[in-house]
Amino acid sequence: MNNVKIGPNDACWCGSGKKYKKCHQPRDLLSALSGAEAKAAPPNPRPVRPARVSPRRSVPDHIPKPDYALRSDGRPGPRVKDVVKNAGQLARMRTACQAARQVLELCKAAVRPGVTTDALDAIAHQAYIDLGGFPSTLGYCGYPKSICASVNEVICHGIPDDRPLEEGDIVNLDVTIFLDGMHGDCSETVAVGTIDAESRLLIETTRECLMAGIGAVHAGSQVRDIGKAISACAEPRGYGVVRAFVGHGIGEQFHMDPQVPHYYDAAATFVLKPGMTFTIEPMINQGTWKHRSWDDGWTAVTADLRRSAQHEHTILVREDGVEILTLKPGEPQPFLR
Ligand code: MF3
Ligand code: CO
Ligand code: CO
Repeated sequence: MNNVKIGPNDACWCGSGKKYKKCHQPRDLLSALSGAEAKAAPPNPRPVRPARVSPRRSVPDHIPKPDYALRSDGRPGPRVKDVVKNAGQLARMRTACQAARQVLELCKAAVRPGVTTDALDAIAHQAYIDLGGFPSTLGYCGYPKSICASVNEVICHGIPDDRPLEEGDIVNLDVTIFLDGMHGDCSETVAVGTIDAESRLLIETTRECLMAGIGAVHAGSQVRDIGKAISACAEPRGYGVVRAFVGHGIGEQFHMDPQVPHYYDAAATFVLKPGMTFTIEPMINQGTWKHRSWDDGWTAVTADLRRSAQHEHTILVREDGVEILTLKPGEPQPFLR
């Protein structure tokens, strides 16, 4: 990931109009000090630990599969460059995204203390198949499950396992379906039973960040405007914005151009045009933005073991605004004129 190079007397990257040294520089310097934040953070007495992962679930032969699902290494083909979609492709995107939303709602409804994330994976797996779709994550670059389930300090890519959810946990459920030749991708962090006020605020702020990011999208704006809006929402309140994982173009391929950083990356000058579809999926941390990876090669946790939340939508850039493709049925479009 690129680091932003600005001098202390330059305008701050957040768009406040203040000098960098009077605005975000102190915080940026602090987060560059290894160990400083970890010392400042309250210790996590009950970190999430790796648990047992069930055998791989199968998908019936009649379900159409993405290219990577047919390869033993799970690697997708070369990235498609043409990212503007025609009306037919957009109709299929709407179908896939609404299916993803349906599966996510089913999973959310099953969340309660005592339920394992593996049980949620089983629910999602069957639901994708019932809709005629394929679980996009299954086998993707070797990922073993049909959803990602990221508990408490897990930032993303948590592998569903036999750990029962506990009262007071927060869990992100990330659901992606391959249907009608298109991927639809959305996620939410939800509460398990009653959670503490700080966790509620974290989840609420993360939703605000997602909406601020979507609100920065216009035909003609740049990808970096998204991360700028998200950082301006999160960082003044003391939250860390994860840098290592980004939003992504989506369509016939799961991860396409553009990459969408959720922090301000001056180099992200890609210009957004009508017909482009991509995700915005900010991961917002109670403390440091830095992460560590588990030995499973997937699970990313916060470096200070404080909690992290994430919300994700797949969106479409239009001449008349932004269409959120993964809203719940009947939810009003907030960014269409
Ligand atoms: N749905 C996740 C995303 O938002 C997928 C992560 S790839 C996986 O991009 F293989 F980890 F599942
Ligand atoms: Co996702
Ligand atoms: Co995504």
